[in-house]
Amino acid sequence: MSSYNNIYDKFSQRLSGTISDFSELQLANLKEKFKTCGLVNVRNILSKDMWKQLVSETNNIVKEHGIKRNISLEHSDNTRRALTTVGNELCRNNGPCMSAIYDNEAFLNFISEIAGERVSIFPNPVEQLAVSLMTEPGDTHGWHWDDCSFALIWMIECPPPSFGGFTQLVPNTGHEKGKTNIFEVLTQHSIESHYFPQESFYFFRSGNFLHQVHPLVKPTRRLIINMDFVSDSDLKRKLDTSTTELFY
Ligand SMILES: [Fe+2]
Repeated sequence: MSSYNNIYDKFSQRLSGTISDFSELQLANLKEKFKTCGLVNVRNILSKDMWKQLVSETNNIVKEHGIKRNISLEHSDNTRRALTTVGNELCRNNGPCMSAIYDNEAFLNFISEIAGERVSIFPNPVEQLAVSLMTEPGDTHGWHWDDCSFALIWMIECPPPSFGGFTQLVPNTGHEKGKTNIFEVLTQHSIESHYFPQESFYFFRSGNFLHQVHPLVKPTRRLIINMDFVSDSDLKRKLDTSTTELFY
């Protein structure tokens, strides 16, 4: 297992290669896609060794420290959270690879380029990194908006769509703080459903897109790393981390 510093440096080198290898057209396509859809799915950004370490440490973290949650969140219209979670501190202490990815300046520049605006790490560490695992039918991460502008999800293990566990979104539905209007929004807009394969990440405007993970319908494993990021305008307001503190 490589150390944090070792991975950080290797990832920076790889990214400068990847970004320069990315043709102008590929990057322009990602930027255009993000501009029009608010969401991109990116593959092949990690080396094989780094991917292996990320998978291994994520599995160990959830096995050693995961806590099964099953709650309804009142301020998200009682939508359910039924999943095994691990919060930032345990991820930091046991996940040098995920920490080195999250903190990496070259990676932040890469996703800022895609977003078309500055993307920064979440100022309160409690909401930086999280791991979650769904295994049983009914497991879900129910409808909600994030309090920050961006989320980036690494698909460590992901079943085919027929098992459930795929991502659903309602774009451009920014919420008013303190209002619980999730079901009004759902009945007034079309829902997009997306399948993102293992060994990729998706990056999207999680503060402005109502989103959920569709409940699993069969026993399986859906294991992810969640990374939250902020915009410059997020940094000018008080960010609410109460939901995260409830179930991570
Ligand atoms: Fe979210």
